[in-house]
Amino acid sequence: MQRVLFVCLGNICRSPMAEALFRQAISKSGSAIQVDSAATSRWEHGNPIHEGTKRILQARSCPTENLVSRQITTSDFERYDWIIGMDHQNVKDLRAIAPKDAQKKIYLYRSVVPQKETEDIPDPWYTGNFTQTEQLIEEGIPYWIKKIEQNQ
Ligand code: 4NP
Repeated sequence: MQRVLFVCLGNICRSPMAEALFRQAISKSGSAIQVDSAATSRWEHGNPIHEGTKRILQARSCPTENLVSRQITTSDFERYDWIIGMDHQNVKDLRAIAPKDAQKKIYLYRSVVPQKETEDIPDPWYTGNFTQTEQLIEEGIPYWIKKIEQNQ
């Protein structure tokens, strides 16, 4: 069983969308991967997902009730095998707080997508473009599932 944690700034827009879309893809593929999400900040701690993310997930029949923002904790760095930030700032913040032996678990989401290895997932909190978020997350899913399964 591999454990994956998606991380963004608020844990109400991008990372919960990644969590839910991965959970749906994993249940279809039958692979044994566990997913969760968290925030680098505590700004939205305890809050439900953003309406824009909710709209995207509901249109795809993904459950949304259990998606509540939480800030990443020290124990997450032990528990999870893959800690995936949605943009460079998330990765930078994660690197700054991760224990030494967890540094190698930290990745940029689009680093697995050919030709897009150094690109961010723009924050829809600022862009308003949740469809773009969905498309960019979708694009990465098969690459991540393949990579994670190869490590089992
Ligand atoms: P997220 O988006 O990191 O994709 O969840 C944001 C959510 C909230 C805020 C910023 C970004 N905020 O400033 O509260």
